Amino acid sequence: MKLLLLGSGGREHALAWKISQSPRVEKLFIAPGNAGTALVGENLAVKADDFGAIRDVVLKNGIDMVVVGPEDPLVKGIYDFFKADEALRTVPVIGPSKAGALLEGSKNFAKEFMQRHDIPTARYQTFTSETLEQGIAFLHTLQAPYVLKADGLCAGKGVLILPTLEEAEKELKEMLGGMFGTASSQVVIEEYLDGVECSVFVLTDGTSYKILPEAKDYKRIGEGDTGNNTGGMGSVSPVPFADAEWMKKVEDRIIRPTVEGLASEGIDYKGFIFFGLMNCKGNPYVIEYNVRMGDPETETIMLRLKSDIVDLFEGVANGDLGKRDLEIDTRSAVCIMLVSGGYPGHYEKGFPISGLKDVEDSIVFHAGTALKEGQVVTNGGRVIAVSSYGATGKDALALSLRNAERINFSGKYFRKDIGKDIL
Ligand code: AMP
Ligand code: GLY
Repeated sequence: MKLLLLGSGGREHALAWKISQSPRVEKLFIAPGNAGTALVGENLAVKADDFGAIRDVVLKNGIDMVVVGPEDPLVKGIYDFFKADEALRTVPVIGPSKAGALLEGSKNFAKEFMQRHDIPTARYQTFTSETLEQGIAFLHTLQAPYVLKADGLCAGKGVLILPTLEEAEKELKEMLGGMFGTASSQVVIEEYLDGVECSVFVLTDGTSYKILPEAKDYKRIGEGDTGNNTGGMGSVSPVPFADAEWMKKVEDRIIRPTVEGLASEGIDYKGFIFFGLMNCKGNPYVIEYNVRMGDPETETIMLRLKSDIVDLFEGVANGDLGKRDLEIDTRSAVCIMLVSGGYPGHYEKGFPISGLKDVEDSIVFHAGTALKEGQVVTNGGRVIAVSSYGATGKDALALSLRNAERINFSGKYFRKDIGKDIL
């Protein structure tokens, strides 16, 4: 079959790497892709949310299936676009409908959904500029720190965690005053959950689901989880505290009610669900839903998925996912992200990347790279993910660190403590 994968980051290179190993795939296209995806498929110069251009390449290349990497096209309704088009209707899209994508596209929708289905999450209320005073009064009923979330998509910048009431009030006013444009015209204020985070992923055909390996990502730029938030500086899978007993709680209290809740509300959902969870004294709570895979979680999870991912995608498309096999590698995987100097603030692009050929026994996924006159150059904040297997997480980390040293570009930075808190 001919498959088109949308997106251009490390997550997409990891997905493309896995998809390209499937004997069912005759040809893999990636739009727009990066210098890494070009090694396992053919990049098409089409933006992941340009539906008209995607339509053209799907028809021109006889694409049989579309897999959506990032949230943007999903929240904009690519699934529904295909369903509504005479010529595209029969091409399955792996990803939820626009209604399903609201789990990520609207924090308020996600919180109301969890309330309707008794899914454990932080206590919350939602406010607009008209109810600012009530919002401030609600803040006064909570304990520090204070959690403010813009309702809409903000490229990962819409969540503020504030240590004092004064700062929380000030930021609430600014958010409702248009700090993130219309994305913050509604703001969710919620209770702070104290615990350790874990990312859990399922693939669902809308009825049955498969639980993929869980992972933990490291969002802060600095070692010891300090400094600014980033898109993610590394990931680890498995997560030691996510043992069978904990995962059973996650499945019974969160996964099954979510999949059944979507079905009972008539929401078409054939794709990934990413549960951002907090482990609070042994009990899982949902911090957020995402409607796609995580980045950099995918860069470890794909190493641990033994089954043919395209077989699973076909199960999603045909509605018989329950009959497909899911086999997980028992080894550990650790991913370290090499980032541009200055990231997550201002950084320069276009620096040549050397040493990629010197990597031994790790798998390199490109995140922000491009090809310039035959040379791989930096093209983003997060540049290269170095992923490794290990008999233990510590072994995997050591191998990723060794290879992270071998790759070089001007301003390269990476965290050396990925997973050290839990391994
Ligand atoms: P999000 O953009 O929803 O992933 O949130 C960003 C980060 O904020 C999460 O990964 C958590 O670390 C943190 N966070 C969000 N909500 C809460 C909460 N209720 N309690 C504690 N931390 C939170
Ligand atoms: N790693 C978190 C995310 O992809 O949103």
